[in-house]
Amino acid sequence: MTSRPVVVVTGGTRGIGRRIVELLCADGYGVVFTHSGSDADAKALEDDLAGGGALVRGVRLDVTDDDAPARLFDLAESAGEVTGLVNNAGVTGRLGPFAELTDADLRRVVEVNLVAPARLCREAARRWSGGTPGRVIVNVTSVAARTGSPNEYVAYAATKAAAETLTVGLARELGPAGIRVNAVSPGTIDTTIHARAGEPGRAARVATRVPLGRPGKAEEIAEAVRWLLSDRASYVNGAVLEVTGGL
Ligand SMILES: NC(=O)c1ccc[n+]([C@@H]2O[C@H](COP(=O)([O-])OP(=O)(O)OC[C@H]3O[C@@H](n4cnc5c(N)ncnc54)[C@H](OP(=O)(O)O)[C@@H]3O)[C@@H](O)[C@H]2O)c1
Repeated sequence: MTSRPVVVVTGGTRGIGRRIVELLCADGYGVVFTHSGSDADAKALEDDLAGGGALVRGVRLDVTDDDAPARLFDLAESAGEVTGLVNNAGVTGRLGPFAELTDADLRRVVEVNLVAPARLCREAARRWSGGTPGRVIVNVTSVAARTGSPNEYVAYAATKAAAETLTVGLARELGPAGIRVNAVSPGTIDTTIHARAGEPGRAARVATRVPLGRPGKAEEIAEAVRWLLSDRASYVNGAVLEVTGGL
């Protein structure tokens, strides 16, 4: 047990989540992060950050597992006082027209992007009820919630819109208990998610439509999450912060 505040981050081994873990450790938080199979990346990140004195623990766990919320919070509580939850892990399913969406992809995006974050938010609400104020949830959504992502991944977009509604509702419901709930909505960010969706070069292709003329960096999303978790954002509740380069 330590006096450092501890934050739970889902999907911490790559992309945006990895940068969130690094920035939070730099700010002195303890961090418990998940991945569902990238053991080598998790170990490398743990070793790297622990070498600099950070309290960091990677857990191989699928966020959709029935016992994921309880396991994660139990582990985080054993490390210190849990003050934050970042629902970052997300999957798009395969890029393509809606008519080609498989049942397996549809169920998976709903489970990973909506059901799992909702269950983690519920775990936080239960564990934090009656506790000290100043706890924060940040949900990582997507600009797709607003654009709908036609011909690419409409079902994914719909789950992200639902996650934004979850954010607004929980901000109003949990605010009186001193729990702030916000979302960061990234535009197109250069990470491994596009290769998994079936188009490794997607970020560069979409960049031509971005007013700032480039894809975003994981760092630029992680900075927004870092700010929302901090006391510098103490009056921000129920916000969906778009970090899209103007898309
Ligand atoms: N990149 C973009 O352009 C973009 C745009 C808008 C929104 N976003 C959102 O930003 C978030 C992060 O995206 P990213 O681009 O950084 O993704 P990424 O590069 O694919 O990384 C995803 C991370 O989540 C973990 N993960 C995935 N499914 C998981 C599961 N079921 N259980 C536990 N961990 C899981 C992955 O590890 P494992 O592979 O080991 O599971 C990995 O660490 C997502 O919510 C995404 O929807 C991204």
